[in-house]
Amino acid sequence: MKNIGVVTSGGDAPGMNAAIRAVVRVAYSKNFQVLGFEKGWEGLLKNTFRRLTPRSVGGIIQLGGTILLTSRCPQFRKREGIRKAAETLALNNVDGLIVIGGNGSFKGALELSKETNTSIVGVPATIDNDVFGADETIGFDTAVNTAVNEIDKIRDTAISHERIFIVEVMGRKRGFLASTVGLTVGAEIILVPEVKCEKEKIFKTLKENSAKGKKSGVIVAAEGIGDTRKLAREIQENTGAEVKLSILGYSQRGGNPTARSRLLASLFANKAVELLSKGRGNRIVGLQEGEITSTELERSCKTKKPLDLNLLRLANILAT
Ligand code: F6P
Repeated sequence: MKNIGVVTSGGDAPGMNAAIRAVVRVAYSKNFQVLGFEKGWEGLLKNTFRRLTPRSVGGIIQLGGTILLTSRCPQFRKREGIRKAAETLALNNVDGLIVIGGNGSFKGALELSKETNTSIVGVPATIDNDVFGADETIGFDTAVNTAVNEIDKIRDTAISHERIFIVEVMGRKRGFLASTVGLTVGAEIILVPEVKCEKEKIFKTLKENSAKGKKSGVIVAAEGIGDTRKLAREIQENTGAEVKLSILGYSQRGGNPTARSRLLASLFANKAVELLSKGRGNRIVGLQEGEITSTELERSCKTKKPLDLNLLRLANILAT
């Protein structure tokens, strides 16, 4: 192993920079060189990269976003794009490639692994926390804290005006972010795509709350449940409560990574370089029951990470 490539791909997540920094510094400690491909898979299609040194990644551990830039790259879904990326790896003698990203990036990595001799290791970084093989992904804790800080403020105004707020959080088609955020803000109701949304039950809960003196409330809804604007209207019509919708949006993807996100980034990157140095590729690193582990890339791509429904049950008990 001489040259390691690193790329950040898909939606950015706070802690990606901490991961890049750790990849470079651990790699150098083992006498490997590092090429940072720019703008996600686009860098491999266009052969655009910069040489990263321990000094060049100084002062970035605390920064959100990714210094390498990122993108969603439709050409990479086509065989021709994958072949071009494999050529770029061969041209630059890249022995191992570290892909920092989420599920979409890992699916791309899996396709690429079929066309190249370069060993590939995935480092899970996404605010959605939906990667199988990683109990927690880089950036998730930061996004949870960002959302919690915002919702605490929304709670103040909800109480003062005796209003119901639906707060929509990100998470794509999954409810990991919504369930953790919902429990930790004390949401009256949490809505996730994994559980059928029973509107009558929502109306009943809110009416019961109102009858027992709880006139305000926060509903945390995952974006994957569908049209929250329509839901807000329906709740207002059926309960008589004043209902407001607040879509938190892209602020959840940015900001300084929390200590937790930086720690995971450093541990995951260290494990990724270690795997490559032992010639082990086609895996993703992760955290499982408190241990830094690794899982086959293909297995991670093809297995749906289960949502812990106990969290929702507990949140329900706590919201009385
Ligand atoms: O995967 C991270 C994420 O922020 C999702 O939560 C969200 O659905 C999606 O990316 C938004 O993607 P884009 O940045 O392409 O709008």
